[in-house]
Amino acid sequence: MAKVSVSAPTSSPAASPAAPNIFFRLRYSPFLTQMVVIRRCNLSCGYCSEYDKSSDPVPVQVLEDRLRKLKELGTFGISLTGGEPTLHPDLPHLIRTCRELRFYRTSMITNGFFLRPEMIETLNQAGLQKMQISIDGVHANETTQKVLNNLKKRLQWLRDHARFPVVISSVIGACPPEEAEEIVSFALKMGFSSRVLLVHDSHGQINLNSQEIKVFEKIVAMLPRRWPELSSYRKRLIREGSAPFKCRAGSRYLYVDEYGRVNWCSQTRAVWSKALMDYTHNDLREQFYSYKPCHATCTLNCSRSNSYFDNWRRQPGFSS
Ligand SMILES: C[S@@+](CC[C@H](N)C(=O)[O-])C[C@H]1O[C@@H](n2cnc3c(N)ncnc32)[C@H](O)[C@@H]1O
Repeated sequence: MAKVSVSAPTSSPAASPAAPNIFFRLRYSPFLTQMVVIRRCNLSCGYCSEYDKSSDPVPVQVLEDRLRKLKELGTFGISLTGGEPTLHPDLPHLIRTCRELRFYRTSMITNGFFLRPEMIETLNQAGLQKMQISIDGVHANETTQKVLNNLKKRLQWLRDHARFPVVISSVIGACPPEEAEEIVSFALKMGFSSRVLLVHDSHGQINLNSQEIKVFEKIVAMLPRRWPELSSYRKRLIREGSAPFKCRAGSRYLYVDEYGRVNWCSQTRAVWSKALMDYTHNDLREQFYSYKPCHATCTLNCSRSNSYFDNWRRQPGFSS
């Protein structure tokens, strides 16, 4: 049963806090912050470590404070994630708050299991600007339930009702690899975009067999032309085992966990973190230049894509 309420927001619009000046923002502010709104998930994907089965939703006022703080740090885009964010009863309200705070783009990531036409309409009205839905294959197996057979109807509802763009995201390595190809064709037929993620281990490092690598390369060739350029790090990773990059996590990309701590990414929670509410412009600058020892074999698309723009800038300790 879907847990997202379809009622009006419970409190008045958030006042817009001042962001840093545009020069600072262009140099150090996050292009993207992923914010966990609830750690609980309805599913238990075998490859995933980013959920539990019991935690409560993070209270909406706490999340609003975090959003205001992110605005003060100059964040451009917000992605609401989990756990499973549609289990948060105030998700539409949070999306509306993001829009009132004028983030450049407000998106969410979901496994789609709770989507219904009414919920999609509510998300439209709240002002959602992009949905990433995770679908790993065609048939359910021990590793994943996020498959076409379970989600076809919901994807048709999205096609018929959503006024926001939909991106289907598949993890290669969760299903027989040919199934991922079918997902990509299906997504393109429905008018959605599609992307593939490489399964990572619990440290965010690459973990694929040779058959999966072959399929991955085939899928890359099926995707629209711009995509292969952006995904060249994946090819390097699977061909050479390493693709060094100057990781700007903690600055250009933030992962804010359910406790309100900024982490470099979902897989380095035990390595480095700092409370968001204590985070300063100086932290953004410091993290921009700080060397991340896990960069060369990292498969986390968010860290990589949001670091891409600053590749020409220095990072002490980095040698490719
Ligand atoms: C942690 S989930 C949270 C949102 C939502 N529950 C979902 O399934 O989309 C966010 C994304 O991370 C991906 N993910 C989780 N563990 C992963 C892993 N070990 N390797 C690659 N992607 C992973 C999921 O498939 C999903 O697309």
